[in-house]
Amino acid sequence: MNVVFLSPHYPAEMRQYTRGLAEVGANVFGVGDSPVGAIPPETRRYLSGYLQVPRIMDEADVLKRVREWLKGQRVDRVESNWEPLVLLAARIREAFGCPGMTYDTVLGFRDKQLMKERVKAAGLRVPHSFRVKSGPEAHAAVERIGYPVCIKPIAGAGSADTYRVDSDADLERVLKLTQHVPEVSVEEFVEGEEFTYDTVCVNGVPQIENCAQYIPRPLDARSNEWISPIICTVRDIQQPKIQQGLKLGRGVLKALNMGSGFTHMEWYRKSDGEVVFGEIGCRPGGAHLIDQINYTCDVDLFREWARAVCWGSFEGRTTRRYNVAIIFKRAQGEGYIRHIAGLDRYMQRYGMGVVWENLLPVGSHRRNWKQTLVSDGFLMVRHPSWEGAMHMAWAAATEVTMYAS
Ligand SMILES: Nc1ncnc2c1ncn2[C@@H]1O[C@H](COP(=O)(O)OP(=O)(O)O)[C@@H](O)[C@H]1O
Ligand SMILES: [Mg+2]
Repeated sequence: MNVVFLSPHYPAEMRQYTRGLAEVGANVFGVGDSPVGAIPPETRRYLSGYLQVPRIMDEADVLKRVREWLKGQRVDRVESNWEPLVLLAARIREAFGCPGMTYDTVLGFRDKQLMKERVKAAGLRVPHSFRVKSGPEAHAAVERIGYPVCIKPIAGAGSADTYRVDSDADLERVLKLTQHVPEVSVEEFVEGEEFTYDTVCVNGVPQIENCAQYIPRPLDARSNEWISPIICTVRDIQQPKIQQGLKLGRGVLKALNMGSGFTHMEWYRKSDGEVVFGEIGCRPGGAHLIDQINYTCDVDLFREWARAVCWGSFEGRTTRRYNVAIIFKRAQGEGYIRHIAGLDRYMQRYGMGVVWENLLPVGSHRRNWKQTLVSDGFLMVRHPSWEGAMHMAWAAATEVTMYAS
């Protein structure tokens, strides 16, 4: 089983997938833009080969180089778990005639407008939306949709340049703020709770399903620095309100013709109970969501994903044992972390439930809170009951404070 795996060590969690591939018996051929020496030895030992390319985002160039590099070799799979490279993987896959999702299928998971059109065509509920390129087009869209609307880039990520708009005055302000974005989506603003639906699929059939709740919604978390955002996996996914979202998710996978690998979808639940599609990618969720799922089920999805794409099977545990919350912290003040207040007390009280303490240590420089999902670090905690997990998460959010100066 020869697998070409794009960017085998960056972002950092890719190292785990590289390990997973090797552990299920694949020969891993990595392709990336850093020199081989930049790959940590513990990851390098899982690689059967590595090709350094000058520009990993240059599709045509990478394809040409990979072709030359692997001329005469059998290639069985071409995979990527990093959003910017999933289309490139499909391109190379097609060139080598490997099984897996086609370029067109993957495009349905990348182009947000096409995605919504395909999901809507399957009879599923998506936000009412228009693709717009100018101020007058935006006004016309608002006329049809009505306030409030959400304005966001067509090719967005991490809630960047995303705004809620409630009035004409707001609209003028936001149009100015988003002037640098070539194309935006103007959407009906869906009020409600926000969840994920995550899977590892084999030929479109979920082998494991996960749901997590964002508290608060990502847009609010990204708009207010003082918030310690929480994401918590839901242990009991059998409850009716979650099942509705899962049902929507399964419909979306069919509508987009999912193949094998990870999916990460976001969906909204309105106060009247209606569930609405948000977006989906054919790759794992970021910000340590896969670690959270692993701690939820005591499973190793880094490896089981590899088994699914290589061998079409899944041997991981899917019984949900815990609700796992991650709490991201943002220091008060700028500069260097000087002090972390309340952590000792927190660990004394809840240490039994803490599976990962990964706050930036005193002395390190703060991260740019707008540009990182993990902020100045995080605590990950777990508890069999939802209330227990929420209690620990709120305590981490409100009683642990990082100070910088
Ligand atoms: N139509 C909408 N109604 C309400 N909130 C929205 C809507 N679209 C996006 N948002 C908010 O903005 C966030 C980011 O938008 P999303 O479509 O997920 O793009 P990305 O995560 O790629 O930046 C969402 O998680 C949600 O909180
Ligand atoms: Mg999103």
